[in-house]
Amino acid sequence: MQRTLALVKPDAYAAGHAGAILAKIQESGLSVVGARSLHLTRAQAEGFYHVHSERPFFGDLCTFMCEGKILAVCLEGEDAIKRWRDLMGPTNASEAGPETIRGQFGTSIERNATHGSDAEDTAAFELGFFFAGLDLV
Ligand code: CMP
Repeated sequence: MQRTLALVKPDAYAAGHAGAILAKIQESGLSVVGARSLHLTRAQAEGFYHVHSERPFFGDLCTFMCEGKILAVCLEGEDAIKRWRDLMGPTNASEAGPETIRGQFGTSIERNATHGSDAEDTAAFELGFFFAGLDLV
């Protein structure tokens, strides 16, 4: 069993796609262990994406992540990190197939509808960023 963080980003949340994305998650067999919606501050977005702080897109990425509410979800299942990333499709939504969540609900590399942890150590950091231990029992 593995846990991973899924985010529905401000573009998909504002467009009303959070429910459809959760339905696709549940159809895939992954379990939702915890979920919360929130509106990130700039400092929180910068903290979450700190590994990208030297990248040229960091400022725009943080601006985008603060523009509206997001949904943070803890997913659980066998091989959950890879299964959620496969379900999302490639980072660049304009290159994602229509069968993927980013292909269906994203529009670009920045406005790509969803986020997923990329490894066990990042999943641990990212889940801890959004959830206290008691939220995920
Ligand atoms: P995400 O999976 O949330 O992880 C980091 C995010 O940075 C990524 O999705 C994209 O939204 C964004 N990103 C990655 N590369 C670029 C890029 N070249 N230009 C703009 N945004 C990017």
